[in-house]
Amino acid sequence: PIPVIIDCDTGVDDALALLFAVRHPGIDLRAVTCVAGNTDVDGVVHNTLTVLEQAGAPGIPVARGAERPLIEAPRSARHVHGHDGMGDLGLPAPRRLPADLDAVALLRREILASPRPVTLVPTAPLTNIALLLRTHPEVTRNIERIVFMGGAVGAGNATPVAEFNVWHDPEAAAILLTAGVPITMYGLDVFRRVVVPAAEVRGLRASTEPGARLAGDLLAHRPATPGSAPDDPTEDAGGLGDAGALCAVVDPEGLTTHRLPVEVSLGPGPARGQTVVDRRPRTGESELHEGTREQCLVDVGLDVDVQRYVRLYLETVATVAHS
Ligand code: BDR
Ligand code: CA
Repeated sequence: PIPVIIDCDTGVDDALALLFAVRHPGIDLRAVTCVAGNTDVDGVVHNTLTVLEQAGAPGIPVARGAERPLIEAPRSARHVHGHDGMGDLGLPAPRRLPADLDAVALLRREILASPRPVTLVPTAPLTNIALLLRTHPEVTRNIERIVFMGGAVGAGNATPVAEFNVWHDPEAAAILLTAGVPITMYGLDVFRRVVVPAAEVRGLRASTEPGARLAGDLLAHRPATPGSAPDDPTEDAGGLGDAGALCAVVDPEGLTTHRLPVEVSLGPGPARGQTVVDRRPRTGESELHEGTREQCLVDVGLDVDVQRYVRLYLETVATVAHS
């Protein structure tokens, strides 16, 4: 299996990602680190521990990370994710505490201790990852790839042009892009498209297996087009959201990527937090302007096989229920 570490802000769709990672036989989930985003970091830790317990994986190390972005003021996204950041599903409190180490220390330890290079999957603002890269740059020697949910080629969600995870901490995202390791951007353009049909969601909700049932409840909470529509009780279809980035780790063929220069807009004003993706043809005019700044080449997800990822997700989270 692929050694994976998830850095998340659980979060309804982060929870979907955790459930998938715990259950997929091709993933060896070595640690989960938490950062402020969908809710405050203590809420994220609480939700993450709870989800791992419900998923039957209570032993995975979990660490608390950054309380706020590097430069931006702290902010809350409770209006999107419910008061507890998890859709107010009323889940039980976790039975254990997080690790004594903070997120950066746990990331460093687990990355360097892994016998095989780790795939890092941030599904949240990139504050912890930026702090890690600046504090312990030696970790990059044992990172296979960073597959992050964030950014957008087209429309944003936090602003007309900026996606939430990058917008929340743009400087951190800029540090990630210059990490010097292979990077896949699973941005809003693909994130928005992977939606589980209502009938499948209802099937999960009817399961007697707690993890599968939780996946169904989380999907039912998620609007079919994340970030654009309120919950409709008559329509249970739900987006996989962050979980799609984990699908891209185990099944990269389902995601069509192009290697393109990406830069985060850091100036003040309406474009702050935008991922500016250079899709110009690589000959002619664009080359005239290159070389003036560091080019970050990123494998940007431009298309996704929706049915394939929906099937992969359902087969994975329902495995225990069907066995
Ligand atoms: C991202 O923001 C969060 O609300 C989701 O969990 C996802 O990681 C989408 O913009
Ligand atoms: Ca998230």
